[in-house]
Amino acid sequence: MLKTRLGELTLTNPVLSASGTFGSGWEGRGFSDLSRVGGLVSKTVTVKPRPGNPPPRIFETPAGMLNSIGLENRGADVFIPETLPKMKQLAGEHGRVIVNIGGESIDDFVELAERFTTAGVDALEVNLSCPNVQEGRLLFSTEPRMCERAVAAVKACTDVPVFAKLSPNVTDIVAIAKAAEQGGADGLTAINTLIGMAIDWRARRPVLGRGIGGLSGPAIRPVAVRMVYEICRNVKIPVIGVGGIASASDVLEFLCAGAAAVQVGTAQFADPALMVRLVAELETELAAIGATVEQLIGAALPATEASA
Ligand code: SIN
Repeated sequence: MLKTRLGELTLTNPVLSASGTFGSGWEGRGFSDLSRVGGLVSKTVTVKPRPGNPPPRIFETPAGMLNSIGLENRGADVFIPETLPKMKQLAGEHGRVIVNIGGESIDDFVELAERFTTAGVDALEVNLSCPNVQEGRLLFSTEPRMCERAVAAVKACTDVPVFAKLSPNVTDIVAIAKAAEQGGADGLTAINTLIGMAIDWRARRPVLGRGIGGLSGPAIRPVAVRMVYEICRNVKIPVIGVGGIASASDVLEFLCAGAAAVQVGTAQFADPALMVRLVAELETELAAIGATVEQLIGAALPATEASA
């Protein structure tokens, strides 16, 4: 009933963790049996270690959260031997292990894709879209031709499915989605955070150390649903919906918009056992209406466009 497909990749259920909101899963292992979720997506891994942005890096907003982490991570040399085996252990036999990779150049993406393919992952998610760094990455998320080139370069050096994670901070996300599809992406993840800001007016300065950050949580869900819906009307590859998901009802909304799977992010900060609970709740909701996940994918799209 819960099974879904992202191209060639089959998931036992559509619930995945969103990159950067659940570490590698290891930090959350005490709260639930993570082998019951569809898969775990790592925090972005870069070639070299990154210290991240100056604090404060997180700020709670009325309906979500601003973050300006700056892709802090220990780099691939540490991640591959130390963290990846733990992710595989947590995912168990059926859960998928998806590593999110971030690069400042196409060479970085290629190196990471080659190394993680050799190390053995179920799929790669290419982070084209972090709003909290200044390097060339911005172009990968906003320039269709750069996006296509980055995706094509990754595709050329791996045989695992490649998902491109898109930024909502563009005028036309469909143009970027089509470029990623043209580059050979096996699927798209939509959306990353919306650029935002909070100001401490008493101190007369921005709250976050870097000034701006990425807004996530329930506030962005309608934006994410709209973008997933528009992308699904215009591409043939599967889409993973992400943005403010906190309930089974939210998951079903994204499925109806055309998403074939979803990622749960900010809500996990309040409830680290949420993903596993959502899997159980989805089963109950679907049993009540006598439908499967695959039957609901794209159910709200105009009839000729539903991607069933
Ligand atoms: C960050 O590390 O700054 C957040 C990651 C992202 O938005 O891609």
